Amino acid sequence: MKLMNVLLCTGTLALAASCNNPSENKETTIIKASITQSDWGEFDGSKVYLYTLTNSKGTEVKITNYGGIVSSFVTADKNGNRSSIIIGFDSLSGYLAKPPYFGALIGRYGNRIGDAKFTLDGTTYQLAANNGKNALHGGLKGFDKVVWIPTVMDDTIPMLMLSYTSVDGEEGYPGNLKVMVHYILTNDDELKIEYSAETDKATPVNLTNHSYFNLTGDVSNTILNHTLMIDADNYTPVDTSLIPTGEIKFVKGTPFDFTTAKTIGKEIDSVKGGYDHNWVLNKKDNSLQKVAVLSDTLSGRSVEVFTTEPGLQFYTGNFLDGKFINRDGKAINQHTALCMETQHFPDSPNKPNFPSTILKPGEKYHSETVYKVVLNK
Ligand code: BGC
Repeated sequence: MKLMNVLLCTGTLALAASCNNPSENKETTIIKASITQSDWGEFDGSKVYLYTLTNSKGTEVKITNYGGIVSSFVTADKNGNRSSIIIGFDSLSGYLAKPPYFGALIGRYGNRIGDAKFTLDGTTYQLAANNGKNALHGGLKGFDKVVWIPTVMDDTIPMLMLSYTSVDGEEGYPGNLKVMVHYILTNDDELKIEYSAETDKATPVNLTNHSYFNLTGDVSNTILNHTLMIDADNYTPVDTSLIPTGEIKFVKGTPFDFTTAKTIGKEIDSVKGGYDHNWVLNKKDNSLQKVAVLSDTLSGRSVEVFTTEPGLQFYTGNFLDGKFINRDGKAINQHTALCMETQHFPDSPNKPNFPSTILKPGEKYHSETVYKVVLNK
């Protein structure tokens, strides 16, 4: 009988990790968890790499240190076919064409800040208005458009650490902010993202990841047939420029009610433009808890979302318009991918009734999110 011991290692660096002993006389494919690095080009005079994290099931996540972007997340579907459950490109040039934050790390402030300004300790800080009159996702050159310093961690599970120092005044924000992000792929098909940061001046911080999911792995299917559950009895209504009004409203009896799973398309037409809102999660503290489940019957895949954050921006890809082409050559049209951005609430620096996003010197910012893929056969 044949035993294939496959170490998926195409780059210059490989860390072998956990790998069960094969029982004899059994045809087994053993995949060693690993992380590999390959050259992906250059940006702003810095080297850009692509890292491939593989677990023992053959699930594979690709991450680049340009923008900390997760470019693909390949898992098996119910028929054993493998495809990426997030949209993206196979080359750096795709990302340099500035797609709307595909897979990227977002900071210093994920989501919108109204009128692109906020006042902190008596000083008003002016940010670039890069979304109408508002600031969005960290500014003109946010954390999604910088080269992070990568470190492959010597550990038993594939783990990549990315670090970046955002200097005082960058994109208008106060304080030198040192940011570290750990991406970990477990053998349970969990992509864990751990964010930490420290500052030398008080500053707003709201970090997230902007992966767009389509669990069918094929953008010729919309996400309107996916079902979603969000453990949130409330959401934050917005004005016409998508800035929260400051109210916290019940979802019950509205199209925003995802407390029991329903198809995304069911009531989307009653929400002008589609869903692009922040849900106020029911969790009461900053422990890691399951807050959402996205499922698709076609592929049999679900993604469970766990987070330490108080909010979830659920965005149905309303502004996707076919301009960008997915890795498989298919146009990425409206509602063909969705985001579940774990976060603090939008415009918190201007909304005293929202949980604070201000990080002060001496404090440690910590946030964690897990996207766990589950196969329902
Ligand atoms: C926002 C959308 C925006 C998208 C891409 C999402 O986080 O909520 O309004 O269009 O990011 O920028």
